[in-house]
Amino acid sequence: MAIATRTPLLEMTGISKRFGAVQALYDVRFDVYAGEVVALVGDNGAGKSTLIKAISGIYPVDSGTIRWEGRDVSISGPQDASGLGIATVYQDLALCDNLDVVANLYLGREMASGVGALAIIDEVTMEKRAIEVLRRLSVKIPSVRTRIALMSGGQRQSVAVARSVLWENKVVLLDEPTAALGVAQTKEVLDLVKRLRDEGHGVVIISHNLADVFEVADRITVLRLGRYVGTYDARTVSREQVVALMTGAVPGETNEGSAPSGGNGSTPVTIR
Ligand SMILES: Nc1ncnc2c1ncn2[C@@H]1O[C@H](COP(=O)(O)OP(=O)(O)O)[C@@H](O)[C@H]1O
Ligand SMILES: [Mg+2]
Repeated sequence: MAIATRTPLLEMTGISKRFGAVQALYDVRFDVYAGEVVALVGDNGAGKSTLIKAISGIYPVDSGTIRWEGRDVSISGPQDASGLGIATVYQDLALCDNLDVVANLYLGREMASGVGALAIIDEVTMEKRAIEVLRRLSVKIPSVRTRIALMSGGQRQSVAVARSVLWENKVVLLDEPTAALGVAQTKEVLDLVKRLRDEGHGVVIISHNLADVFEVADRITVLRLGRYVGTYDARTVSREQVVALMTGAVPGETNEGSAPSGGNGSTPVTIR
């Protein structure tokens, strides 16, 4: 299939990262293609956030290879990641409650791009573009002039995600985007994740909620205790298998041998 010859947007191999005595990541691999959602799962301490922060330049890796669209790159700071087209939505969202949606979408950008076209972007253009991107992504909010403080958790999350794609980013990293949300708001955010994928973004999502994972993910990458366990096709792996892979338990006998292998030092199975 043609898919086998495609180049991932982001491809990482042999990634290791140590914090003092803690080996947070050891020989981890990870990749994401345009137009797919990859879920990153694992128990607490598995290294998920560290891997996301490595990709976003917060914690540069100790060793390993990072390729962007097929060429070797180094990501040694957040500017490197954003320069490549990688955007991150962190759990705290980093939105300003007292500002409206337009202001939040453009937060810091005016300063970051002191010269060039953005320096002369005016309020009207900003509002127009904000309305466009929110409409394109079907984000439902009262008005782009509503202050963030007056919005629901789902709406805030949606604004934070919309901000990440306002600047032509290709890969979007979401760390637990639905953790604080109720059912209806979770659905809104997951629908937004699907629209990003359908627009051609590569989306990486961390979630503790396997129902969410199976709702949106095309592939599931499992980490355990800082090590890569494997990457699995979300259509064929079961929830029970993923739990077993996360915890290191041997998948049940009743799975008729269809359980993906990858633990116990054997070669991880990567399915695309
Ligand atoms: N800044 C840090 N300093 C020291 N240890 C850290 C730091 N960040 C993460 N760790 C450790 O690295 C390991 C992986 O953590 P993390 O990536 O947060 O896992 P996860 O997100 O999967 O729960 C844990 O043992 C954690 O305590
Ligand atoms: Mg984490």
